[in-house]
Amino acid sequence: MSVAEIFETMAYGPAPESAAEARRWLDAHAPELGHVIDNHTVQPRDGDYFESVDPATGKPLIKIAQGGAADVDTAVVAARAAFDAWSRAPGHVRARHLYALARAVQRHARLLAVLETLDNGKPIRESRDIDVPLVARHFYHHAGWAQLLADEFPGYAPVGVVGAIIPWNFPLLMLAWKVAPALAAGNTVVLKPAEYTSITAVLFAELAREAGLPPGVLNVVTGDGRTGEMLVAHPDVDKIAFTGSTEVGRAIRRATAGTGKRLSLELGGKSPFVVFDDADLDSVVEGVVDAIWFNQGQVCCAGSRLLMQESVAPRLLDKLRARMERLRVGDPLDKAVDIGAIVAPVQLQRIRDLVAQGEREGARVWQPSWACPAEGLFYPPTLVTDVAPASTLAQVEVFGPVIAAMTFRTKSEAVALANNTPYGLAASVWSESVNTSLDVARAIKAGTVWINCTNVFDAASGFGGYRESGFGREGGREGLYEYLQPAWESIPHLSSLAPPAPSGGAWGDASPQTPAKRMAWGSTDTAIPQQPADSILNSPTHADWALDPSYELAAQSASPPRGEEETKIDEGRLPSPAHGRGVGGEGLPYPPIDRTPKLYIGGKQARPDSGYSRPVLAPDGRYVGEVGEGNRKDIRNAVEAARAAAGWAATTAHARAQILYYIAENLAARAHEFTARLTDLTGADLGASRAEVEASIERLFTYAAWADKYDGLVHGTPLRGVTLAVNEPIGVLGVTCADRYPLLGLIALVAPAIAMGNTVVAVPSERYPLAATDLYQVLDTSDVPAGVVNIVTGPCDTLARVLADHDDVDAVWYDGAGEGARVIEQASAGNLKRVWIIGRSPRDLLDPAQGHGPEFLREATQVKNIWVPTGD
Ligand code: NAI
Repeated sequence: MSVAEIFETMAYGPAPESAAEARRWLDAHAPELGHVIDNHTVQPRDGDYFESVDPATGKPLIKIAQGGAADVDTAVVAARAAFDAWSRAPGHVRARHLYALARAVQRHARLLAVLETLDNGKPIRESRDIDVPLVARHFYHHAGWAQLLADEFPGYAPVGVVGAIIPWNFPLLMLAWKVAPALAAGNTVVLKPAEYTSITAVLFAELAREAGLPPGVLNVVTGDGRTGEMLVAHPDVDKIAFTGSTEVGRAIRRATAGTGKRLSLELGGKSPFVVFDDADLDSVVEGVVDAIWFNQGQVCCAGSRLLMQESVAPRLLDKLRARMERLRVGDPLDKAVDIGAIVAPVQLQRIRDLVAQGEREGARVWQPSWACPAEGLFYPPTLVTDVAPASTLAQVEVFGPVIAAMTFRTKSEAVALANNTPYGLAASVWSESVNTSLDVARAIKAGTVWINCTNVFDAASGFGGYRESGFGREGGREGLYEYLQPAWESIPHLSSLAPPAPSGGAWGDASPQTPAKRMAWGSTDTAIPQQPADSILNSPTHADWALDPSYELAAQSASPPRGEEETKIDEGRLPSPAHGRGVGGEGLPYPPIDRTPKLYIGGKQARPDSGYSRPVLAPDGRYVGEVGEGNRKDIRNAVEAARAAAGWAATTAHARAQILYYIAENLAARAHEFTARLTDLTGADLGASRAEVEASIERLFTYAAWADKYDGLVHGTPLRGVTLAVNEPIGVLGVTCADRYPLLGLIALVAPAIAMGNTVVAVPSERYPLAATDLYQVLDTSDVPAGVVNIVTGPCDTLARVLADHDDVDAVWYDGAGEGARVIEQASAGNLKRVWIIGRSPRDLLDPAQGHGPEFLREATQVKNIWVPTGD
């Protein structure tokens, strides 16, 4: 072809990237790649290998070790052995290592990129220009966090040995997303790459060894899902960080339930790409190319649902089809190819099956006129129209180059459609109006929202899902918390965990626990030794009302022992009607006016559906009262009420703070009564009860204070514009309380939850629920909107299980441990709700270090990153 002809046709010529270096590296390792454990190449103990294949040619690349139980164990032992020194190393030492890793990635960037493309099938343009630079950026960024860790995360410690399990779509990048923050925070890692794409993980481990990373800090064990399962099950792994399919994420949630292992899950998505009629349609078209044809659409956050405002839909679709005609599918090593090969035959078949299923359901499939290469695993860019919102192609993650187009008329319809899947990973919003785009970004349930851009990532910004897209964040400050725990909670490691702490329910010992620490009123020392009530009451530091003689009277009269009401009337000191007793016209004593605490649902007291009540007994067996026996139906009603009160999230933080202050004010006004009630219920001395009430009031103040101060961040990403990390409420929280502090145990959890805009279904202490039922009136008089706080008394663990099973509950906080925690975590796998096992390590809620603060606020929120480019 002459130059003149080339100018005429503007046809692409071949632009092959050489694979010679990569082949040399493979040859040097042939015939098989081992694991990298303790900085040694280790062949699998069982001698099993499988083939890694180039998806573009179908030709084998090299054999990969299939990790067995012995291999996983060796790696975990190495990681454990390295943990002590690595975690104790000054941040600066770890920073130097991470910096060295970043440099090593840059030095070997081309080898890494070519091997990645050979193994995965992604275009070299992407592995070279996107994946590998982002990997280096991740290690640089986290070298910075290692350097700053002690200053920026005081009171936090690393988690221990991290088991990282990653998928095949971004093999190196997913490695970096997990390894960099884990190492920066002082953890050691056992990484299991995906079976289709293990090669670059082994190369990376070798580079890390050459760069001087100490033995055992990073270990790579290759293998398929069975190896992953063994890593998940290993008793000496403290945390699992997983990216992959929702199905496997669910299995891992179940497998780790009750083990105390921490878990972060980054799962699938069906992300909306929303186009309003004022958007720049030419930019939109390029956006769609990046959203769904980047990495062959094998991207968890791929914009796979194109939602178009009706008026621009025909024009946009025409432009899109024209652009699709010009896309090039073919040899991934060709630098002018847009779309490479699908990773494996099984994935290609899955794409074909789902598209065929869509067609059967009535969708119209459009593909460009040209044909894909006949050899290798290729699939053309595909546009599907006439897709019903509930159909397969609108709901199921295809994980291929297939986009489903739908239309909407109004903004609210767009939001409804966008949120109409169980997922919530990402979204892209296109509009020239700042009002529309930011408003819709806030309304879409997704961990990342890109405005007028898409698939933009950076180490400084968190990434992760809402709803069934998983929980936890990767990147940025928020991502680092996934690899840290409060220092007081750091435990040697899980295998040495003591037996479960009592949860007070069906699975635990219900014996009452005496507060070990007391709060010294007016003093900052909250850990004063236990002392008799008298000495506390006589202490000059406590407030005046403790000396009020009516205080003791209230204590005595709060709940007379059953059967004694009618007989023990002291003529000389007749109780007033206010105390429930008096003398009737015939000289007969008035019986006390019955107070039957009910449930508290939707701002009203409600009788339990079961029609049963349960007695509440003091520790000495004395009858104190009765509460309703809540059941599944009551929880359902309460969840419905909590969902209906979702407008709470939209009230201003100032308004939420005001209401929390008001609850505190009203609780303080009745402090005597609550103190007396607690003593009556638990047998604790008055000083201890008083400390609990006082701490409850203080917690309300604390979270009123936090309500408008738990700010988000503006991340320093390379984007020209701003990346806003916004803290959003999670939604409906199920909160179940322990027996230890019947009042504080409820308030310490409910207050941060509602301060952040969540609505709550709370199950109070099973053994001492009357402190919670007394609280209804406080809530009623404090302007708490109906449904924001709902309280269901009854069997705590049974009700916790119902909450964990419920698909409309977004998170569960369980103040217990042991078998109860296992059941809750397992049940939560249904809709993959977040679970916080508050009693994972024995926690004293009265101790401010353990009982309040940003940890609670973090658990009550999820971070949404909104990327807003600026300029033309
Ligand atoms: P997968 O979820 O099975 O694999 C991801 C990783 O988990 C791999 O390393 C695998 O070996 C490991 N694994 C598999 N079963 C395991 C188990 N029981 N315990 C522990 N680890 C286990 O994903 P797969 O089969 O490769 O792809 C299937 C579908 O999942 C895709 O079609 C796509 O829809 C989705 N997917 C989503 C990803 C995302 O980033 N959201 C990534 C990869 C796949």
